[in-house]
Amino acid sequence: MEDHLPQAVRVERRPVSEQESRHANGPDWDRYADEYQATHGAFLGDAGFVWGPEGHTEDELQVLGDVTGLDVLEVGSGAGQCSRWVRTHGGRGFGLDLSHRQLQHSLRLDAETGVAVPSVRGTATDLPFAAASFDIVFCSFGALQFVRDIEQALAEVARVLRPGGRFAFSITHPTRWMFPDDPGEPGLTATQSYWDRTPYVEVDDATGVVSYVEHHRTLGDWVRLLASGGFTLTDLMEPEWPEHHDRVWGGWSRTRGLLTPGTAIFVARLAG
Ligand SMILES: C[S@@+](CC[C@H](N)C(=O)[O-])C[C@H]1O[C@@H](n2cnc3c(N)ncnc32)[C@H](O)[C@@H]1O
Repeated sequence: MEDHLPQAVRVERRPVSEQESRHANGPDWDRYADEYQATHGAFLGDAGFVWGPEGHTEDELQVLGDVTGLDVLEVGSGAGQCSRWVRTHGGRGFGLDLSHRQLQHSLRLDAETGVAVPSVRGTATDLPFAAASFDIVFCSFGALQFVRDIEQALAEVARVLRPGGRFAFSITHPTRWMFPDDPGEPGLTATQSYWDRTPYVEVDDATGVVSYVEHHRTLGDWVRLLASGGFTLTDLMEPEWPEHHDRVWGGWSRTRGLLTPGTAIFVARLAG
C-alpha cells in the first residue's frame, strides 16, 4: 500500500509465504528505489533520521537515546540515511536491506556525504551477524511490515542484540489498515476490518507473479509478539501530524493526519 506501483497490477487479499513475500518485495524495491529516492530523498536528508511521513526526527523524539560509542543495526536501511545520522552522532551504524538498488543508493550517498554506512544485502528473518553484536537495532518503516515470518524476524533481532539492548521500529499505524490507502477524504472512511490479517498482495497483471506484499498486525499482536520474544515494551509513540506540515506521502496527508494516527513507533528493551 505504497505510492510505488510501477506496472499494471491487481490487488488481492490472500495468504502468502515468507519466500513469496521476499521474492516479491526485493525486486519491487529494486524497481521503485530510483523513484523513491528522487521523491523522498530531500525530505529524508542524506544523513537525516526521519521516523515517518509526519517528518518527526530522531533529534526531536529521542527514541534511541545517546548513540555515542554504540553498535547500531538498521534493518531495512534503504539508502542508509538514518544510519548515516547515527554515524554523525558518534555511533557505529550498520545497514541491512533486501534491495540491491536501495543499497546502491546507500553507496552513492556514502560517496556524496563522506559518511560511509557499512551495509549488507540480506533479509530481516536471517540476519548475517553473530549473536550479541549490537546495542541497538532499529527500523524506520524498514522491513517489518514486509515480513510474513515476524516471530522469526523478532527472534533474529533478539539474537543479535546484547542483553538489555534496545529495539525500536516505526510502522504504518495498525489502525490505518481499516481505511483505503488514499490521502484524501475517501481515506477517512473505514471499509475493512482492523482484525483481518490477510496480507495485501499485488499481482503483476501480465505475468501473474506476486509483485508486492504487506503484512498487517494489530496493536495487540505487536504487544504479544514483543512480550513472547523476550522484550519489554517501554513506549508506543503515535506522533501527531505537525501543525504546519503539508506533505503528501502515499496515503499519508494532512487531511488524514489531523484525524487519525499514521505512524506507530514501538520502543522495547531486550531482557538483560
Ligand atoms: C519504506 S523503505 C524504508 C527505508 C528507510 N528506512 C527510509 O526511510 O527510506 C523499506 C525498506 O525495507 C526494505 N525491505 C523490505 N523487505 C525487507 C526484508 N525482508 N528484509 C530487509 N529489508 C527489507 C526495502 O528494500 C526498503 O529499502
